[in-house]
Amino acid sequence: MRVLVSGGAGYIGSHTVLALVEAGHDVVVVDDFSNSKPTVIARLESLSGVHVPVHAFDLTDVDKTNALFAVEEIDAVIHFAGLKAVGESVRRPLDYYRTNLDSTFALLEAMRRHDVTRLVFSSSATVYGERAPVPYIEEFDQLASSSPYGRSKVMNEQVLTDVTLATPGQRVALLRYFNPVGAHPSGRIGEDPQGIPNNLMPFIAQVAVGRRERLQVFGGDYPTADGTAERDYLHVMDLAEGHVAALEHLDAMPERVRAFNLGTGTGTSVLQLFRAFERAVGRELPYEIVGRRAGDLPAFWADATRAHEELGWRATRTIDDMCADTWRWQSQNPEGYPDGE
Ligand code: NAD
Ligand code: WQD
Repeated sequence: MRVLVSGGAGYIGSHTVLALVEAGHDVVVVDDFSNSKPTVIARLESLSGVHVPVHAFDLTDVDKTNALFAVEEIDAVIHFAGLKAVGESVRRPLDYYRTNLDSTFALLEAMRRHDVTRLVFSSSATVYGERAPVPYIEEFDQLASSSPYGRSKVMNEQVLTDVTLATPGQRVALLRYFNPVGAHPSGRIGEDPQGIPNNLMPFIAQVAVGRRERLQVFGGDYPTADGTAERDYLHVMDLAEGHVAALEHLDAMPERVRAFNLGTGTGTSVLQLFRAFERAVGRELPYEIVGRRAGDLPAFWADATRAHEELGWRATRTIDDMCADTWRWQSQNPEGYPDGE
């Protein structure tokens, strides 16, 4: 298939571009580089050995999105582009609703006009909200989220469901990612957050490389084995391969809209991840336990049975793989991607 990857220069999109090429698909990227650098594309080309066509514009622009579909042959879309910082979404809700919804509207409009029927969407475990029982299962039907970011994902799922059911032939996979971490094993592609990292793994990696003084562990009094919060961390290459599996399964789906959890099915605590990272680096790292972060849940992980049974996909990489690959990326690129090379 020839796959349009929106947000293909970003963290998960870039790894998925490599997995798509590896599986024999052609890719076209659209990205406005608002949270990524063009250097990523050069690295994708050198790693994959293929030319990666890129269209650099804001996907909320309906006319430009339509024009893209007029010039490129597209069989399917994987939609990653959007804003993703939970805390920032509380301060800038309108930006989050506008970007995360308008980009989907523009894509759906262009897909309808150009008769493109296959879509894979980046959703998130955050759609389960605070009341879902753990492990999370896709059947849970009271989706809610405590942040504008999370609600923009719930709304996207609703919009995509309604539009798909009203559009003959259209098929959508809603992929609910748990906590993606890690990097491509080459160390050439990885996560490069701008400013102070919000997420745990890039923060630990920046402590290890000397960019941050110490990790602050948010909360040591949760009702978990070691008192720190548990999450379902999954390797970004497993996640990337999950997109390929979903894409290739779309035409065979009995339901035309289907949600899939992509996770390992196992919880790991903050301190367990931190200790694993110390093993990857080969030395002790500084940390302190501080108060809980507002809005954090004590523990959640995926029931990933559906993705295994229906997509034939399962996460295979371990926590130690995730840490070793993150460390290779971070130590080879201490300041992240350069502006040019
Ligand atoms: P990212 O910020 O690294 O990648 C997003 C890419 O989209 C960036 O390259 C950015 O420049 C681009 N982009 C943003 N707005 C755009 C616009 N209006 N037009 C064109 N391009 C635009 O984020 P990521 O971590 O790779 O996440 C990808 C998707 O997965 C997002 O939808 C995110 O909400 C979702 N997701 C991420 C996580 C996570 O922990 N990283 C977890 C669950 C879901
Ligand atoms: C993991 C654990 C923190 C940083 C977020 C979004 C979610 C999804 C994935 C997009 C928590 C602790 C963190 C630090 C810490 N994204 N922590 N010190 O909060 O599970 O999920 O990213 O959809 O929607 O909410 O991930 O990596 O921020 O935190 O102790 O400096 O690490 O308290 O327990 P989270 P995270």
